[in-house]
Amino acid sequence: MQSEPTVRQLFDLTGRTALVTGASGWLGRALAFALAEAECRVIVGSRDLEVATQVASSLPTVASGSHAGVSLDHMDEDSIASALDQAVRLIQGPIDILVNNGLELCGQDWTNIDFDSFVRHQANNAGYFALARQIRQHAVTAGRPASIIMVGSMYGMVASYPEAYQDLTTASSVAYHALKGGTLQMVRHLAAYWAKDSIRVNALSPGAFPNTNQVSAELIGRLEQHVPLGRIGCPHELKGALLLLASDAGGYITGQNLVVDGGWTAW
Ligand SMILES: NC(=O)c1ccc[n+]([C@@H]2O[C@H](COP(=O)([O-])OP(=O)(O)OC[C@H]3O[C@@H](n4cnc5c(N)ncnc54)[C@H](OP(=O)(O)O)[C@@H]3O)[C@@H](O)[C@H]2O)c1
Repeated sequence: MQSEPTVRQLFDLTGRTALVTGASGWLGRALAFALAEAECRVIVGSRDLEVATQVASSLPTVASGSHAGVSLDHMDEDSIASALDQAVRLIQGPIDILVNNGLELCGQDWTNIDFDSFVRHQANNAGYFALARQIRQHAVTAGRPASIIMVGSMYGMVASYPEAYQDLTTASSVAYHALKGGTLQMVRHLAAYWAKDSIRVNALSPGAFPNTNQVSAELIGRLEQHVPLGRIGCPHELKGALLLLASDAGGYITGQNLVVDGGWTAW
């Protein structure tokens, strides 16, 4: 009888390579570390090559090769193509995992956003799609499976609470809610179309994980009132969910949205 893979084997990413966009950011850094800690080679994407290289060199080393940094702006189609060229040249091998985590922010809410800014924000999804399609093509050409993970958000599923932001800061952006809702639906669509190519597509949706260096204690306190677990999330609390989706442990999971929100959307 054929022996079944162990849990360690299922989560092990030895010999795999992942591209993580926005890996210099609050959550992206933790996601890149998670992959490296599971023995995955990581290609760090940043709009600034120096930053990408610096983040790549800070990751835990893996036995199968070095990490690398590439300059990548997902709002620019040429930059996406050139980043993938750079990545393939640097790692001299296939890319098995894509984490579409980067985000060009939108600081305006429904009261003050203008038409062009709203449209521009939706282009984040065009970038996620263009990257995903290129990684799919790359994997199909190499005859290998791939896992694509789009970082969604609970704000792609539910509205925010107006009073959480009232008289403190701008509300969560309506353009962001539209964007991330679209991301989740794009995941379902691509998962259905690409399953026959052994390309899995899933979303990882964080709840409230505000950057504690940037967000006021008062806002954090207000957000915490909406979390059944009673606190905001720490970036490392996304690591396990990411590895499930990235690795063979999640080999039968596609088209799903894994929500890590301390229970926010359960209420
Ligand atoms: N933090 C939360 O509470 C939370 C909750 C739910 C979902 N999320 C999602 O989690 C992801 C990461 O959020 P975060 O809080 O870690 O944000 P963050 O700290 O602002 O990091 C976002 C990163 O995206 C990169 N980026 C910006 N514009 C880009 C572009 N045009 N192309 C490629 N990369 C670009 C930036 O890297 P460079 O400047 O190096 O290019 C930046 O480091 C986002 O998709 C966000 O929607 C966050």
